[in-house]
Amino acid sequence: MTRTRLSGAGPECSRIIYGTWRLLDTKPSAQEINRRLHACVEHGITTIDTAEIYGGYEVEKALGEALALSPGLRDRLEIVTKAGIYVPNAYHPERRTAHYNATGPRLVKSLEKSLRWLGTDHVDLFLVHRPDWLTRADDTAAGLNALLRDGRIRAAGVSNYTAPQFDLLDSLMDQPLATNQIEFHLLHMAPILDGTLHQCEKRGILPMAWSPLAGGRLFDATHPAAARLAATATAMSSRYGGATLEQLAYAWILAHPSRPVVVIGTNKLERIAAAAQADAIVLEREDWYALWEAAQGQQIP
Ligand SMILES: NC(=O)c1ccc[n+]([C@@H]2O[C@H](COP(=O)([O-])OP(=O)(O)OC[C@H]3O[C@@H](n4cnc5c(N)ncnc54)[C@H](OP(=O)(O)O)[C@@H]3O)[C@@H](O)[C@H]2O)c1
Repeated sequence: MTRTRLSGAGPECSRIIYGTWRLLDTKPSAQEINRRLHACVEHGITTIDTAEIYGGYEVEKALGEALALSPGLRDRLEIVTKAGIYVPNAYHPERRTAHYNATGPRLVKSLEKSLRWLGTDHVDLFLVHRPDWLTRADDTAAGLNALLRDGRIRAAGVSNYTAPQFDLLDSLMDQPLATNQIEFHLLHMAPILDGTLHQCEKRGILPMAWSPLAGGRLFDATHPAAARLAATATAMSSRYGGATLEQLAYAWILAHPSRPVVVIGTNKLERIAAAAQADAIVLEREDWYALWEAAQGQQIP
């Protein structure tokens, strides 16, 4: 597994990252989650992406319990977490409306809870999960800068920010934002054209691509683009040692010149292993465009 730095200031991470949004979908025990984390490390996937809100605010707690079973495991991982989305739930019956809150004090409070639940004294990267339309960027920056200063976060970044939103917040940071975690995959190519990936390339930071398999829609045979992609992937598979559609979909993202890292979301050990192998696939130019063409249902203009 190739290791890379998201930005000049770090953090270092694996090019394939294990995402935990769906971690509790299969109701795994702490032992099962622990085994999954060990499997990731064995395949070189050392970076774990999570968020306060995942699993109805339960995933970080489950991760903490799984990490506690293997003293030392946390130190072999880079942990990325996010905060800023607050929805009504059993823990917070007082919340009336789902809302964003990226004020400094709110982010600090969320991070403190994440550290408690994860059982660690720092995270390697802390992201504002979504832009909050009601908060001034200097307020958000003050919270992130305070956390950077006291070492509880080693780097700060954002997720789902537009390029202007990113520029504004970054201009107020003591340490440049390390990444923008965005939706980018064969069924969602907007970041190629809307300036998001150009901004990353210009600033020398690597984007993190979430839902690389379109959340599983890539395998829905009733979806016309997915059906075309399946046929195209089958036709080119032998040139890549029998690579599957999912591996080619990961390789397609990795091949973009902004050098994205890929945040995978499977709950299956064999799919974690298969994802790790995608790191070695270097798509030929015409095959990258063949997958583009299949996804778009038309030739390049
Ligand atoms: N920043 C954000 O706003 C944001 C938003 C969404 C996600 N994320 C991050 O990105 C991560 C990945 O997102 P994601 O889970 O949507 O990723 P994904 O890889 O696009 O989708 C994963 C889903 O696809 C299914 N799948 C994988 N291979 C398959 C195959 N060959 N056939 C059929 N289904 C298959 C998986 O099922 P199995 O478990 O059965 O393999 C799983 O349900 C999340 O965990 C999270 O960390 C971030």
